[in-house]
Amino acid sequence: MKIIAHRGASGYAPENTLKAFELAVKMGSRDFEFDLHRTRDGILVAHHDFDLKRTAATDAKIAELTYAELKEINVAAHFSKDPAFQRVPRLEEVLEIVEPAASWLNFEIKNDGNVYPGIEGDLLAFLRLRPALFEKAVVSSFDPGTADRCRGLSPALRLAYLNHGLSAVLLPVALKKAKAISAENFHFNFRLAGLLNVAEIKKAGFRVCVYTVNEKNDALRMKEMGVDGIFTNYPDIMGTNAANSE
Ligand code: G3P
Ligand code: CA
Repeated sequence: MKIIAHRGASGYAPENTLKAFELAVKMGSRDFEFDLHRTRDGILVAHHDFDLKRTAATDAKIAELTYAELKEINVAAHFSKDPAFQRVPRLEEVLEIVEPAASWLNFEIKNDGNVYPGIEGDLLAFLRLRPALFEKAVVSSFDPGTADRCRGLSPALRLAYLNHGLSAVLLPVALKKAKAISAENFHFNFRLAGLLNVAEIKKAGFRVCVYTVNEKNDALRMKEMGVDGIFTNYPDIMGTNAANSE
């Protein structure tokens, strides 16, 4: 089972910051997840929320700031264990750290309501310039239009179907949608794993990864269910040398 460093080692360092990614690498992670946004001047950056209220107590949206403005804001401010200044990193800065260690990288595009028109093409252009990275990259988005556009732009791009509104009743429809975009992975909240029947999803041809598993007993339960990967804020969740366990 993959142990995927979720927003870096974000249980120990401020999420989606260089510090969190450096720490995940240090802890032995080989599988990584981060969230993508785009600044007003077109820079792809890693951050979870569309705005900076939660991470920096600042009422500003990433889409409305230039990178020069954004990089002055401390997005570690919310992280009481270590609030020392950390900026929102550019995508290439994140990759400089994680790519040499990575065997698998999940780029989650945050693009609800297509707030970043053309971001799919921007990411694809970035990946096409880096063929080795393209091979390791798996792109996902909660926004179905974003996933559709990714597939429309590239039949070769590896995609994961991502949904937070799932139930057993809705599963057949979700599987159909995942097939329609030729996703190889199926990602959902781990609390639904019992209800959704992991075996059925795998039988349909998908690898199953679940988020966000931060307790060891839940991680073991997911492993028993046959889950292929867990997103976790604690890459050492299974023990000190298990950040890269397959
Ligand atoms: O991509 C898996 C997981 O990260 C989705 O949830 O809200 O943590 O981005 P969220
Ligand atoms: Ca995410």
